[in-house]
Amino acid sequence: MQIIKNIEEMQALRGKMEGSVGFVPTMGALHQGHLTLIRQARAENDHVVVSVFVNPTQFLPGEDLEKYPRREEADRKICDLAGVDALFMPEIGAMYHDDEVKLKAPAYLGYILEGHRRPGHFDGVVQVVMKLFNLIRPTRAYFGKKDAQQLRILQKMVEDFFMSVEIVPVDTVREEDGLALSSRNVYLSPEERERALSISRSLKRASRLVMAGETDAEAIRLAMEDMMREIDVEYIAVVDRDFRPLERVKLKETIILVAARVGHTRLIDNIWI
Ligand code: PAF
Repeated sequence: MQIIKNIEEMQALRGKMEGSVGFVPTMGALHQGHLTLIRQARAENDHVVVSVFVNPTQFLPGEDLEKYPRREEADRKICDLAGVDALFMPEIGAMYHDDEVKLKAPAYLGYILEGHRRPGHFDGVVQVVMKLFNLIRPTRAYFGKKDAQQLRILQKMVEDFFMSVEIVPVDTVREEDGLALSSRNVYLSPEERERALSISRSLKRASRLVMAGETDAEAIRLAMEDMMREIDVEYIAVVDRDFRPLERVKLKETIILVAARVGHTRLIDNIWI
């Protein structure tokens, strides 16, 4: 596996790659969820590139940029063992310049739910992913469905800018007890982790209610809220695939999303119905 820190080297290596290139952009602290993305990329492409870059522009002032987990050595080993061809780990100065041209997330999709709670977050995500796509020129790029809003915004970026990369959504990976994998789970104390389980449990309940014939979004929302009384719920949203609010759940067209704080840790999760 080649480890690349420098833009020119990345461009040169990409130039030599023939056939398809699968790309998994990450912020490191790789876990089983990332590994699932990498494995799928490995199975579907001639070459696999993974990036590890804790992107400062998608963190708001006061968020966890400084303490975001950094595990460079472990990330290298995981990528090597998973058969990654190139691991791109640039420094901030290589990725960003002074007084840059800036991309903006869509006015609706980028500023509701996660974008409402974290205004400007998705501007930073589109900025960095556009840079990474231009450098790596992937055939396919792999993103987890746990970050459903990010996934939809990046699909839209590719559509809006006529880009030829295929965005591949990959199912959320969960611990045995249902907790969705996230690099931020390391912040949870054992007691908080226990309380955090109410998020996935409430989503499971929502899914059971739908399977039993319930379609009323408000009834589902209330049932979920009731299960998450011991954590600080920021939102429960029942939306369509374009994130428009739904009053009635429609099969194969609905996403139910939760954001909540457990102690100092902010967690998100969702189910696709
Ligand atoms: O999902 C993430 O880890 C990040 O938002 C991404 C896509 C790597 C951009 O920094």
